[in-house]
Amino acid sequence: MSYNAEFEQFKSDPASFWNSKASLIAWYKKPQSTLSKDHNGYSCWYADGELNTSYLCLDYHVKQGRGEQPALIYDSPVTDTKEHITYRQLLDRVANFAGGLKAQGVQRGDRVVIYMPMIPQAVVAMLACARLGAIHSVVFGGFASSELAVRIDDAKPRVLITASCGIEPGKLIPYKPLVDEAIKQADHKPQKVILFNRPQLTADIDQPRDIAWEEIEANAPAAAPEPVTGADPLYILYTSGTTGKPKGVVRDNGGHAVAMRYSMDIIYDMKPGDVFWAASDVGWVVGHSYIVYAPLITGCTTILYEGKPVKTPDAGAFWRVCAEHNVKALFTAPTAFRAVRKEDPDASQLAKYDLSSLQRLYLAGERLDPPTYQWLREKTGLPVIDHWWQTETSWAIAGNPAGLELFEPKPGSATKPVPGFDVRVLDDEGLKTAAGATGNIAIKLPLPPGTLTTIWEDHQRFIDSYMSSYPGYYLTGDEGYIDKDGYLFVLGRCDDVINVAGHRLSTGQMEEVVGSHTAVAECAVIGVSDTLKGQAPMGLVILKDGSSIEPDALKREIREKVRNQIGAISCYNTTLIVPRLPKTRSGKILRKTMRAIADNKPYTTPSTIDDPAILDEIRETLEAQRSATA
Ligand code: COA
Ligand code: AMP
Repeated sequence: MSYNAEFEQFKSDPASFWNSKASLIAWYKKPQSTLSKDHNGYSCWYADGELNTSYLCLDYHVKQGRGEQPALIYDSPVTDTKEHITYRQLLDRVANFAGGLKAQGVQRGDRVVIYMPMIPQAVVAMLACARLGAIHSVVFGGFASSELAVRIDDAKPRVLITASCGIEPGKLIPYKPLVDEAIKQADHKPQKVILFNRPQLTADIDQPRDIAWEEIEANAPAAAPEPVTGADPLYILYTSGTTGKPKGVVRDNGGHAVAMRYSMDIIYDMKPGDVFWAASDVGWVVGHSYIVYAPLITGCTTILYEGKPVKTPDAGAFWRVCAEHNVKALFTAPTAFRAVRKEDPDASQLAKYDLSSLQRLYLAGERLDPPTYQWLREKTGLPVIDHWWQTETSWAIAGNPAGLELFEPKPGSATKPVPGFDVRVLDDEGLKTAAGATGNIAIKLPLPPGTLTTIWEDHQRFIDSYMSSYPGYYLTGDEGYIDKDGYLFVLGRCDDVINVAGHRLSTGQMEEVVGSHTAVAECAVIGVSDTLKGQAPMGLVILKDGSSIEPDALKREIREKVRNQIGAISCYNTTLIVPRLPKTRSGKILRKTMRAIADNKPYTTPSTIDDPAILDEIRETLEAQRSATA
């Protein structure tokens, strides 16, 4: 089917379109109702269907005769390990672990926080929760204790599953002290902590709270998949919003399974048996969707890679994995290829590997800058597909739909809206902009299956964050334009969210930490352009009157504070001391204007500015900083 025909079918009647797509997955009980309203009055897909996501990922494929096919290949250059796990083996491990969780009292609707590195046990834990109808919440291993504590207090897990350590190039990250500290800080205390001890660094089992992973596996009968409804939550995934408190994006079972399966057809053109690799982390949405759920629901082989694009051991790492495991499609963040290009500009590593299996490269997580796009095209000769999505959506809103037809790409564009997403660009009054004119990117409701159903236990925040700006539309928080050929260009966030190395972070959250330094009277954190990581945070601080702290000491202390309270992943390294911050007359800090100045981009002095002279002071400071780092 052509893209236009598929898109028209969706647009003319979304409910009947998605009704026909329901048959992409094996339900226990097929839904009678495709689109209904949930208890919050928000749209809900396949609410009365019955299914189990772990069954779809595992048991179904074993029944179809794929038991001996690798479901998951664990490739870990940081531990020098490779492990092939077949569908049958993964099913046994998941059923077994789920039985152990059940014996600990975990049941349908319970939350389980998973704080783990990129090891097969993380996938087993996720699927075991899905098997029981429990709701997992995976927290990225790069987050610090206080971030974990906030998530524990919000999700209120019965159980927390962790490992003794993460492994970063050249260093071990002990997880257990971070978990202990987080539980100490949190008001909610999980009943049990399940600990997987890695040989590289073991941690003590603190009884009676802690239990060893092996003990959970050893002492329980395998658990059967529990039927859940299409509307039951599968997971909560926290993501950065504009305030310090992360948003718990809630994903359902039914809509998610259908969307995952559909996306593998039309965006990635993957068939059962193909090898798919998303070089991300299970702590991010890309990891949830395209390391775990979509490839497994589709019957593909997925790759769990514990390493980096460079230095593990070199800039050929990605090509090596693709060649060795016959990867058909590779998905990663542009920053990963910027790192590869920086170390191996001529792509000399590429020639060392047989990449005949590799058909397409997919990029997302941040804007794919045209130079990186051109470099990849030229060096690999493969289609390079930029696709745009968010934690909230779980799958791409726009992309080049390889499973339908490949459009001539335009560098800088995520190509066309994916069928299911009716994308509009609106001006501040909510009117559709002309072709080529920049505005706020919104999606006409209803959002398709797979997208968030609410914010965990805070539906009002869901309404306020996404639904209230333009009634009838979901506000993406990104700005951009659609050109005359219908290509979508996403230019960046129009709120206080930044994207550092493909990781979504909140400047508001960083401001809370920076502002808590005893010498700081006021501060603003902005995201400035960074050649490797896309964006990097920069803090501008006003000192308290009479503060005598030495500037370098202040900068060091603030950096440490942000690393300790948010995590090293924040990449917060720069603090500038300024006498004043530019504000509107109503007191709003002009972050966007400062960002433009820092990036050396054109800007207009806002008419609402309180004192234009402050902008000159800021410009001088930022220009001095730019030339100092150039
Ligand atoms: N656990 C603990 N710490 C972690 C971590 C984890 N899982 N992941 C990263 N960190 C730490 C790093 O060790 C580093 O700490 P340091 O400042 O003490 O050195 C810090 O967080 C920043 O990490 P990172 O952004 O990975 O920087 P880097 O310089 O080590 O690597 C890249 C740069 C570009 C290679 C890397 O950012 C990368 O691979 N990016 C791809 C991102 C991606 O896949 N995003 C997913 C969205 S699709
Ligand atoms: P996350 O929720 O971490 O996936 O981050 C989502 C945000 O990343 C989006 O709102 C965009 O700002 C940005 N993003 C993701 N993919 C792209 C892309 N292909 N082009 C431009 N921005 C992107």
